[in-house]
Amino acid sequence: AATRRYRFVLGNSNHSRMCTNKTMLTINGQFPGPTIYARRGDLVIVDVINSADHNITIHWHGVKMPRYPWADGPEFVTQCPISPGTSFRQRVVLSDEEGTLWWHAHSEWYRNSVYGAFIILPRRTETYPFAKPHAEVPILLGDWFHGDVQEIMETFLATGGDPEVSDGFLINGQPGDLYPCSSQDTFKLRVEPGKTYMIRLVNAVMNNIMFFKIANHNVTVVATDAAYTKPLRSDYIAISPGQTIDLLFVANQPPSRYYMAARVYSSGGDFDNTTTTGIIEYVGNYTPPATPALPSFPPFNSTAASHNFTSQLRSLANAKYPIDVPRNMSDILFFTLSINLRPCPNDSCAGPFAERLMASINNITLQLPKTDFLQAYYRRLSGVYTTDFPDNPGFVFNYTQTTIPRDLARPQNGTAVNILDFNATVELVFQGTNLAGGIDHPMHLHGYSFYVVGSGFGNFNRTRDPPNYNLVDPPLMETIAVPENGWTAIRFKANNPGVWFMHCHFERHVSWGMGMVFIVRDGPGANEKMLPPPPDMPRC
Ligand code: C2O
Ligand code: CU
Repeated sequence: AATRRYRFVLGNSNHSRMCTNKTMLTINGQFPGPTIYARRGDLVIVDVINSADHNITIHWHGVKMPRYPWADGPEFVTQCPISPGTSFRQRVVLSDEEGTLWWHAHSEWYRNSVYGAFIILPRRTETYPFAKPHAEVPILLGDWFHGDVQEIMETFLATGGDPEVSDGFLINGQPGDLYPCSSQDTFKLRVEPGKTYMIRLVNAVMNNIMFFKIANHNVTVVATDAAYTKPLRSDYIAISPGQTIDLLFVANQPPSRYYMAARVYSSGGDFDNTTTTGIIEYVGNYTPPATPALPSFPPFNSTAASHNFTSQLRSLANAKYPIDVPRNMSDILFFTLSINLRPCPNDSCAGPFAERLMASINNITLQLPKTDFLQAYYRRLSGVYTTDFPDNPGFVFNYTQTTIPRDLARPQNGTAVNILDFNATVELVFQGTNLAGGIDHPMHLHGYSFYVVGSGFGNFNRTRDPPNYNLVDPPLMETIAVPENGWTAIRFKANNPGVWFMHCHFERHVSWGMGMVFIVRDGPGANEKMLPPPPDMPRC
């Protein structure tokens, strides 16, 4: 295994999109940020140097960080922020990840402009479990706000309403030629007829699950969240914020120009159907059409289309890429995911009923501590968190019903953790609720991948549903969209000691408190204990 070094300098840089120019935080002045390349099992060392005027942290999304949560990145969970003028050397040890991941800021809303791809190739002596594509290209879906994202965050948190929606979506930093002032820089991929291409798709969007499609071409999914899948042919992709999907397509259509495009899937509310585009351009002699063909998408609000796609994913689960789904569970935990309302003084908030929008897990709204959880755990500091995170919502109700008395929907603030023993076999069931409106929640776990063993609509039923779990070839993921008014069950073995964040990857939901922390205890063996912190660990 090799050691690879990167230097990430955080600064302010100027960028224009859709006729608007603004200054925003970026790494090395790039937007999207630099791509990290490594091979399976490598050590990646990133020097993060804060030359900007804001605190920051950086997270390596989907990297398990074995026994080393110190460099994982979530602000006030595993570290205090890197303050202006200071730096932090982050050691990112790769283990079994292979495929596409990404990195992003994990402070406030800075991930909107501070993100990039993290590509992990097979070991030098190994190949892909599919024929090597002619070329590979990262495609990062992002979004652009004309305004300052920090201000947008502060405003919606102050008013208690929904945040402003982004002004456009981006493919590799570009909105595409359907947006004003954008045609010059539209992302373009040149393809040779008959060749196979791999797209490494990352959803870095702040608040939306996206549909992605290539006009006139089918795609074959081969991996998700840096784990291989059985080849899945589809004519569209649904991808959650946080998720990554590797897909192949063959340039087998008449030479021309075709759009690849992304569009919001929004389970609740309205949407303007704006589409962001990139162009696939065949090489050769032909007269290109005035406008490339646009793919036709599933309806923007089709939860069925989003869920159908995701529920077809399967692990490769063969001799070379075996899987190990826990069967005898030591811990079975049930978590409701809710959007809530909280009364406001003088009924003055901008949410429904003039109340404040909140979010919770088992009715607990996460309040981040002032010192991070990891520091407090490692140094045994008392008074930072409690250990009584509830393993059920506290009261039983029809989770998907819309007319719950509003009093039932009041969450409590908490800074509580879930404690797991080393090697515990854990099942988590997430149940979406309809307290203040149902919506999908893309749940992401740090420090682990998990098997998605089951999912469905309506209320989870402990008698009816577990017998239908897929324990044979469930997909191995680290971000999974729990469907609107439905449930998802995941399993993993708690073999990575440390402090690990689990949260909804919709930025507005985590800002409203939809997050929780797992502490996985050390095991007895010398190689089963959390490693000590590095000397340059940022201080609060
Ligand atoms: Cu992609 Cu907690 O992060
Ligand atoms: Cu959510």
